[in-house]
Amino acid sequence: MTTTLYIFTGTGNSLAAAEFLAQKLGDMVIESIPIRMKKAGLLIPDTNKVGFIFPVNYSGVPLILSEFIPRVSLSHVPYIFAVAISGGIGRYALLQLDRMLKENGSSLQAGWMVRMVDNYIPYGGAPDEKTQKKLLSDAESVLADIANSIQAEKKEMPGFPVLSQLLHSLFYPRFIRSLSEIDTRFRVDDTCNGCGICSRVCPSDNIRIIDNKPVWQHHCLFCLACINLCPKEAIQLEEKLRNKRRYHNPSVPLKKLIQIQSGMDSSSDQ
Ligand SMILES: Cc1cc2nc3c(=O)[nH]c(=O)nc-3n(C[C@H](O)[C@H](O)[C@H](O)COP(=O)(O)O)c2cc1C
Ligand code: SF4
Ligand code: SF4
Repeated sequence: MTTTLYIFTGTGNSLAAAEFLAQKLGDMVIESIPIRMKKAGLLIPDTNKVGFIFPVNYSGVPLILSEFIPRVSLSHVPYIFAVAISGGIGRYALLQLDRMLKENGSSLQAGWMVRMVDNYIPYGGAPDEKTQKKLLSDAESVLADIANSIQAEKKEMPGFPVLSQLLHSLFYPRFIRSLSEIDTRFRVDDTCNGCGICSRVCPSDNIRIIDNKPVWQHHCLFCLACINLCPKEAIQLEEKLRNKRRYHNPSVPLKKLIQIQSGMDSSSDQ
């Protein structure tokens, strides 16, 4: 029985988790939400299981996922699950997704949160490599259990997560409202060599390279891929990022990340 897994990622954690599940479960098709969003029309997956895997944003779902839900018809699918990939707190995102699905004629049968490495680096930078390794290895154990639950079609939704709900109601609506202007906070410094990687890892096609420098186009999802993947660490968020450790999931090669974001061939990248 084939499973369709719709995925969104910024810095590769969600893709690594999706690939881990696909490898454990077999018979799973991974579909990129950003690529699907570029195609017109309603999507009707021809599978008995459908999953969503995505990074948590302020205990909520990324904007692109909330825009995707009305574009996919799932009322005929008996088992729908979601895996929210977080930096530690965010179960409320699963309840938000369930509500969105219900508004569109289906619902989640199961939802889990998995803690991986926090890619929101403005406040302290990414953790050191040893900590990253530990977090990613712990995440694999959790994902292995999730794979078993998906296999057995278990019905498992989180209880009401009070702290996560509080974080959501305090910050999420403001975050979503700020997105149309948020990339005006990005700066690029003189170390930029015009390589264009930031533009190719952007899931929202929000960066043009003009005169060998990135220029943001004001439809940012704030996934932080451009900031974290720039090989020169040349992109700053005002002054908050200088000397802060960047992060991308070490098991996801740049080429794969570019393909999942845009479908673009990236044979010239390392
Ligand atoms: C704008 C933004 C908001 C975030 N909010 C949360 C949050 O509320 N809770 C949390 O645990 N992690 C949060 N994170 C961290 C990511 O959810 C986490 O690092 C995730 O693993 C990234 O997955 P990805 O590599 O697939 O993009 C946030 C990250 C960003 C960029
Ligand atoms: S990835 Fe970095 S170095 Fe390359 S064009 Fe973008 S900002 Fe410049
Ligand atoms: S501009 Fe940067 S932060 Fe915004 S969507 Fe693109 S990659 Fe993500």
